[in-house]
Amino acid sequence: MTQPHPSHNVARDLDAADPLTTWRGRFHYPDAPATIYLTGNSLGLQPRSARGAVEARMAEWDALGVRGWHETDWMATEGDLAASMAGIVGARPGEVAVGSTLTGNLHRLMASFYRPADGRTRILMEADAFPSDQYAVASQVRWHGLDPAAEIVAVPGGDTAFDQAVAEHGPHLALVLLAGINYYTGRVYDMRSIAASTRAAGAVMGLDLAHAAGNVKLALHDWDVDFAAWCGYKYLNGGPGAPAAFFVHERHHTATTPRLAGWWGHDPATRFQMPDEFSPAPGAAGWQISTPSILSLAPLTASLAMFDELGMDRLSERSQRMTDFLATLVGERLAGAVEIVTPPERGAQLSLRVRGGRGTYDRLSALGVVCDWREPDVIRAAPVPLYNTFSEIAEFVELLSASLPDPGKNVAD
Ligand SMILES: Cc1ncc(COP(=O)(O)O)c(C=O)c1O
Repeated sequence: MTQPHPSHNVARDLDAADPLTTWRGRFHYPDAPATIYLTGNSLGLQPRSARGAVEARMAEWDALGVRGWHETDWMATEGDLAASMAGIVGARPGEVAVGSTLTGNLHRLMASFYRPADGRTRILMEADAFPSDQYAVASQVRWHGLDPAAEIVAVPGGDTAFDQAVAEHGPHLALVLLAGINYYTGRVYDMRSIAASTRAAGAVMGLDLAHAAGNVKLALHDWDVDFAAWCGYKYLNGGPGAPAAFFVHERHHTATTPRLAGWWGHDPATRFQMPDEFSPAPGAAGWQISTPSILSLAPLTASLAMFDELGMDRLSERSQRMTDFLATLVGERLAGAVEIVTPPERGAQLSLRVRGGRGTYDRLSALGVVCDWREPDVIRAAPVPLYNTFSEIAEFVELLSASLPDPGKNVAD
């Protein structure tokens, strides 16, 4: 019988030493132990408490009908979740609201904060931004009767490239819309520095935090970001298509900030008096539009309770150790066959360019690893500190090694 690689013993000791290893039991884990799930960057696993949370809402609806709005905590749910979200993204109370979807929220925030005028018309974004952001931004530019080809500046490269582009386009710049973490490479941008140069240039700073919220520590208020939006279904484990959330810096919390309005953004003190004139709720809640989806919010409530309990400091400390462990093992054992695309500025996710391309990915999947493939040649794998273990990471590297077509040949061959 072959001896297990020593990394398995190291992993076992690391798991034994960390009390958070047992938190995995708080999640449903698809086909455990036959699979290794490393795709929390795409869809987080289901907290075991989620089903009960949904069923409790179903029972309230069943028993109370419309009285549920007044005789349960339905009305308070969004605010409670917004408070938890504020802790996750480093916002002040009142700077976060929950609901709708990520791209939908980017649109509503750009309606407020992309207002091309006085020669400031351009938008800077990453060259390889997630397609939905590219479509949303181009359509916003067209909405204002402008030409995306002239107004959108796609910046390749990292933080320095952004700082330079901000300096170059400064007087023409209306908005910088940046992902906190690039979905493809897993790079964490220096959001604080880019926000500072953007605001110094007189432009607005917006963030898409789909891959950052619940993954890395954020300080949106202190970084002076103007607005941000993120989804609830990746690291936040709210379920497929879960309600999203957004941030509006408190300096914009004035009734005169233009916005797309709906009755749910109206001041709750007078909402049910049904006044003709819109008067925004204080804070980011003044950007809400519609009745909250109480059933859809339930799994998010179950998941965010864990974030409240743990805190982002502890979570991110474990996350860094896990991803460092993965990077070290890949470097030591698979150098030449697997290239780590992700720079050292990273959260949970590593993007791996593998020799053998899609074939390697398919073999890995057949061995029970759930990670994802991004064209043309990258596997994304994200150990999630809430439910993955060091032992799984060691096993993943073993299985990746076994999936390579011809160990020993260089990835560039
Ligand atoms: C970076 C980023 N932005 C936007 C989206 C689109 O999100 P939604 O479909 O929830 O609007 C995604 C989805 O994965 C994403 O990763």
